[in-house]
Amino acid sequence: MLQAKVFVTRRLPIELEPLRSLATVEVWPERQPPPYEILLEKVKEIDGLLCLLTDQIDRQLIDSGKLKVISQMAVGYDNIDITAATTRQIPVGNTPGVLTDATADFAWALLMAAARRVVEADRFTRAGLWQTWEPDLLLGPNVTGATLGIVGFGRIGQAIARRAKGFEMQILYTSRQRCSPELEQSLGVEFATLEHLLQKSDFVTLHTPSVDDTYHLISDRQFELMKRSAILINTARGNIVDPDSLYRALASCQIAAAIDVTEPEPIPSDSLLLTLDNLIIAPHIGSASRQTRSKMATMAIANLIAGLRGDRLANCVNP
Ligand code: DGY
Repeated sequence: MLQAKVFVTRRLPIELEPLRSLATVEVWPERQPPPYEILLEKVKEIDGLLCLLTDQIDRQLIDSGKLKVISQMAVGYDNIDITAATTRQIPVGNTPGVLTDATADFAWALLMAAARRVVEADRFTRAGLWQTWEPDLLLGPNVTGATLGIVGFGRIGQAIARRAKGFEMQILYTSRQRCSPELEQSLGVEFATLEHLLQKSDFVTLHTPSVDDTYHLISDRQFELMKRSAILINTARGNIVDPDSLYRALASCQIAAAIDVTEPEPIPSDSLLLTLDNLIIAPHIGSASRQTRSKMATMAIANLIAGLRGDRLANCVNP
């Protein structure tokens, strides 16, 4: 039927047979993403591109090809120039919904690990430093009953609120749009300005997309507003937090943090952030449950196939 050509920028955790029966499929075989120059060559000969957040899909790349569809295996798509794709009427798909719980679970794991100093405790034990039970060894704050500030209240922010409810937390949220009173009541959350939320929260967790308005949303001034004992969690995008401000706040022991995303990614091996004990860093694995990654890949392929067929994508991000 279709003689379409497709390029998939990494090996995926599912079989590609449904796609192969419709198109000639080339999969980039390396562990590292294809270099930009290779992508630039590939787009000249393909109809569909299945990409990841590590691929830079900018105007030059989009204008160089004759793509019918771009399908991203991620909910975030800040690596893709949507305006350029829209100008050329190329639909761009993403994979929302299926990773909400996995990402919220991981944000929660980071919150608990930072509060109760799990990573430091592991290092301490392996270093042979456990000599006795000590009344003040590796103390951290209570999670149960604490105040949680959720910045960004889409699917993942709301999933965090549901988890926090089980820990009897006071939950503040800030978001471009306030939720309905019914939703606020059922989740047990209170709307707040960012400033108020930062001042009141024991834990602050970020769940906004990476857009112009959220670039370095958390910088020196915001760290100054936070309690000195606050713990910051970031599983959204690295550039929401200014890394220099984060370093200053952590180095002065003002706060602690646990982050799954950095600016840039991967974090440079000489980053001063890597020297800090009050920071946990994970390599962008928020959605990394087996089931979730498989659902993301399936959804990305379904979007790709829809685009090749000229059908509407189930999840299309163009305005
Ligand atoms: C996304 O989907 O945007 C996450 O960052 C990776 O799963």
